[in-house]
Amino acid sequence: MGGTVLVTGGAGYVGSHVVVALARAGYAPIVLDNFANSSATVLPRLKHLTGAELPLIAADVRDRAALAHTFSTHAIDAVVHCAGLKAVGEGEAQPLAYYDNNVGGSIALAQAMIAAGVNTLIFSSSATVYGQPERNPVPEDAPLRPASVYGRTKRAVELILEDLAAADASWRIGLLRYFNPAGADASGEIGEAPTNVPNNLVPILADVAAGRRPCVDVFGDDYPTADGTGVRDYIHITDLAAGHVAALAHLARQSGVITLNLGIGRGCSVLEVIAAFERACGKPLARRAAPRRPGDIAICCADPARANALLGWRAGLDLDAICADAWRWQVNSGRRA
Ligand code: NAD
Ligand code: UFG
Repeated sequence: MGGTVLVTGGAGYVGSHVVVALARAGYAPIVLDNFANSSATVLPRLKHLTGAELPLIAADVRDRAALAHTFSTHAIDAVVHCAGLKAVGEGEAQPLAYYDNNVGGSIALAQAMIAAGVNTLIFSSSATVYGQPERNPVPEDAPLRPASVYGRTKRAVELILEDLAAADASWRIGLLRYFNPAGADASGEIGEAPTNVPNNLVPILADVAAGRRPCVDVFGDDYPTADGTGVRDYIHITDLAAGHVAALAHLARQSGVITLNLGIGRGCSVLEVIAAFERACGKPLARRAAPRRPGDIAICCADPARANALLGWRAGLDLDAICADAWRWQVNSGRRA
């Protein structure tokens, strides 16, 4: 266990929590980020939280010279590749920017890893590769029909990495399909702090609770679900980050590609999430019925059995913990209106 791990996108939401989990598990993380959707202000808080040195490389993952310099100046053992663009609507409007960043960035990174002799890689994939699941919970071998440009960039990278491992058996690759990461580190020192406008339900509820938005739009109340609203598998970001540490430990034991769902295995509706956030912040949250959001599906819930069995990992924190920690971060970070 241990070693130096390059975390691309390490200043972002998932990446910053992965950095904390790695440091707490005895790894030495290095952050690489171009701050397209984050800020360098997270670094001092990460250092304070972890007590670690945390070198920062302010660079674009597509910058081959910067990657070569990074690998030549640090003895990197493994890479967790979180850097990417993730706004579904923006991807539809700017497909080339999304393919360039998400696919081009991954190719540049893999090439730099080959040149440096580094062969352990964890990739931030998404449940979005399943598109509209035929059945729930969704296992990893379910049909893959991503319904957005963003989703197709994720599947394209998965295919590239599968081909790479087929060509060279020394690769150790984890394709982690995240369901709906939410919440924040329990310290309240780091959390979701996008520089772009949030699209996801929990940060939007934090905005409403903090008075930065008048209300939350409930996108659709006529889905075939118990209360008519969309159902998702919300996984606490701390559990998600721990999944990366467990996957790295697994890859140290076994080469090849592993594809794993990271979810809790239980679905919650939009109304259940709103109710949990109300309990966390101690006030009612205004909501209004809105039409279904284009591209949304009724239910998407993980079957996490493979990750549970292979990694000995399990997501244990529930929706109340997610909302309590998201609200603590909201209050602590001074983003309250
Ligand atoms: P985020 O935007 O908070 O973090 C991504 C980070 O990558 C940001 O800090 C951004 O500045 C950086 N970045 C983007 N392009 C870059 C580039 N070319 N070079 C260097 N840095 C770059 O998003 P997140 O929620 O932390 O997501 C991390 C990864 O997980 C992404 O690949 C995303 O697609 C994937 N993912 C996220 C979710 C989710 O709901 N948060 C779900 C499934 C998958
Ligand atoms: N929702 C609302 N109001 C909002 C925002 C969201 O009602 O203002 C609802 C959505 O309709 C959905 C649920 O809350 O039912 C969750 O929505 P999110 O946007 O938080 O999450 P999604 O499941 O839609 O998105 C996630 C990832 C994306 C990925 C997508 C594909 O965040 O990266 O899954 O399934 F592309």
